[in-house]
Amino acid sequence: MVSTLERAAPAQTEHRRPREINLRIPGPTALPPSVRRALGGQMINHRGPEFAALQHETVEGVKRVFQTKNDVLFFPGSGTGGLEAAVVNCFSPGDPVLSITIGSFGERWCDIARAFGLAVDHMPLEWGTAADPDAVRQRLKSGPPVKGVLITHNETSTGVTNPIAEIAPIVRDAGALLLVDAVSSMAALPFDTDAWGVDVAITGSQKAWMIPPGMTMLSVSERAWQATEQAKLPRSYWDFRAMRRYMERGQTPYTPAITIMYGLREALQLIEKEGLENVFQRHHQIGEFTRRGVTRLGLELAGDPRYYSDTVTAVVAPPGVDMKAVHKRLREEYGVVLATGQEQWRDTHFRIGHLGYVRRADVQQALAALGEVLGRPLR
Ligand SMILES: Cc1ncc(COP(=O)(O)O)c(C=O)c1O
Repeated sequence: MVSTLERAAPAQTEHRRPREINLRIPGPTALPPSVRRALGGQMINHRGPEFAALQHETVEGVKRVFQTKNDVLFFPGSGTGGLEAAVVNCFSPGDPVLSITIGSFGERWCDIARAFGLAVDHMPLEWGTAADPDAVRQRLKSGPPVKGVLITHNETSTGVTNPIAEIAPIVRDAGALLLVDAVSSMAALPFDTDAWGVDVAITGSQKAWMIPPGMTMLSVSERAWQATEQAKLPRSYWDFRAMRRYMERGQTPYTPAITIMYGLREALQLIEKEGLENVFQRHHQIGEFTRRGVTRLGLELAGDPRYYSDTVTAVVAPPGVDMKAVHKRLREEYGVVLATGQEQWRDTHFRIGHLGYVRRADVQQALAALGEVLGRPLR
């Protein structure tokens, strides 16, 4: 079935000089026109009834996307703030946790846990691979008991998606809390918070949600609430308890990101209209389309093919090619912005984002431009 978003796409045949920048990075992502209009809304009293209604409507919509009945909290801040919030609310100094990392965002979360004095058992896996559920089971069995497991769903730096559905029951069997960084997957890839038993899931507004940066959204399970009551790590701004107390009466402890919530209300309507399953399907189809296109350019996809991400594709930079110059030409001559590699993949890889407000035509134009710049036409 063709999604409503694909149907609305204007036919795009000209891949040079598009009207707008084709932002093919894995966030911030492009905004749909109706979201851009919604963002122009006048300010309201954040302690008045209009805000309470806005918050109620957006929280309910976000719960549907998270597929959860758990509490959902909104904090002004970026995804990294959400990762820190999850740590400080669930643990006490010295608590043992397992941090499974498959790329730079996993490493970042691991660093946060260390910075707050947790006893981190770091399980770093080679970039490009996904966490193997059996290896996780083995690690949890052989090591000392852990209170929580920190894992990234979609590793944006490598274009690999971890099989959380398979890992979740293993973590539950070990009696640990499951905390999942879903910053670059939620609202694009299937994520069944309640069925999987995810205790804290964290996302960021600027990714698949089709809204600007500036808000992190988290779901908190009953088990996570119990941990929160006992946790002794210092917290103030990120305190889940204060946020829940205020949100229950239609407010927040401090000034909320009203503008972003206007955008979110509109974006949720777009998601609802398209249908969540169709949103997942669209991302999957565009992921496949991107990978096929990369291959047709004679380029090599990075990562384990069983776990390719449907929101971001990592590509091996062709040897001997000055990728800095490629990115520059793409940007200046074609209006196409791709992402570079990160950290150890900085000079050896590049990435194509395809999440949120994205249609095949956007990827098609980016690939055609890339082919021209590299002198490798699409075959
Ligand atoms: C998987 C993942 N986790 C965390 C983050 C950090 O989010 P932010 O840049 O909003 O702090 C990102 C951002 O790219 C991400 O992709």
